[in-house]
Amino acid sequence: MTVHFIGAGPGAPDLLTLRGRDIIASCPVCLYAGSLVPEAILAHCPDGAQIVNTAPMDLDAIIETIKAADAAGQDVARLHSGDLSVWSAMGEQMRRLRAEGIDVSVTPGVPAFAAAAAALGAELTLPGLAQSVVLTRTSGRASSMPDGETLANFGATGATLAIHLSIQNLARVVEELTPHYGADCPVAIVFRASWPDQQIIRSTLAAVQGALPDGITRTALILVGHAIGGEGFDESCLYAADYDRRYRPQTADSPWSEWQHGDD
Ligand SMILES: C[S@@+](CC[C@H](N)C(=O)[O-])C[C@H]1O[C@@H](n2cnc3c(N)ncnc32)[C@H](O)[C@@H]1O
Repeated sequence: MTVHFIGAGPGAPDLLTLRGRDIIASCPVCLYAGSLVPEAILAHCPDGAQIVNTAPMDLDAIIETIKAADAAGQDVARLHSGDLSVWSAMGEQMRRLRAEGIDVSVTPGVPAFAAAAAALGAELTLPGLAQSVVLTRTSGRASSMPDGETLANFGATGATLAIHLSIQNLARVVEELTPHYGADCPVAIVFRASWPDQQIIRSTLAAVQGALPDGITRTALILVGHAIGGEGFDESCLYAADYDRRYRPQTADSPWSEWQHGDD
């Protein structure tokens, strides 16, 4: 028996990996984080599957449900939104399951920040503007931030920031980041990226609070940084005509290096 953790993607049901879909279809039990996982994904469950929305459950109850499936020899599909590597609560479940001697597997999913960038049509690492993306959040009721992981510290690097779980702290985001990025720095808010009711707000640090429509109080990403504007960046060396590289050597004895950036 195995508990298969599966990243269910940002919202659109077809932003699920084929592997995730096939594992869901093979599991007689499915637990899903109902607050963000789209119900349409549950259509991949086999007929007669036990389908459990874990949104109203605590950790003990979730583990007991999995242990019952284990006792019955039934594999479990455990769905969380986006990818499992960030803010999924997978770690605490895995620790308990391993202590129980229950096997686990992990299948990645499309994270919200990638869906938000896609909605914007934006590359978050534009040469000359930003070459790093920080996935972060501000402190909330359930989680405080470790010392040092402040917006000001991340902002001091000039990286593109993808700020999760923080739309209700927008005033603080603006206050802490304006000294580092400047009041005219581009900001985009993507509400429910890839869902049918997706909304995009493009603004600046100075104006974004006034631009936020009422009703956007959760499931939104705040993207801050000069790469968000999509202007004033350099072209990369990757496709430069005179750039000497492994797949496009400029001379017969080209000393191309393997470590240069790019995906091809
Ligand atoms: C608990 S975290 C889950 C993150 C998820 N594991 C991931 O890989 O993106 C929830 C936060 O992710 C962001 N989020 C999740 N889905 C989103 C979406 N479709 N559009 C915009 N933001 C989203 C929001 O900031 C939300 O408050």
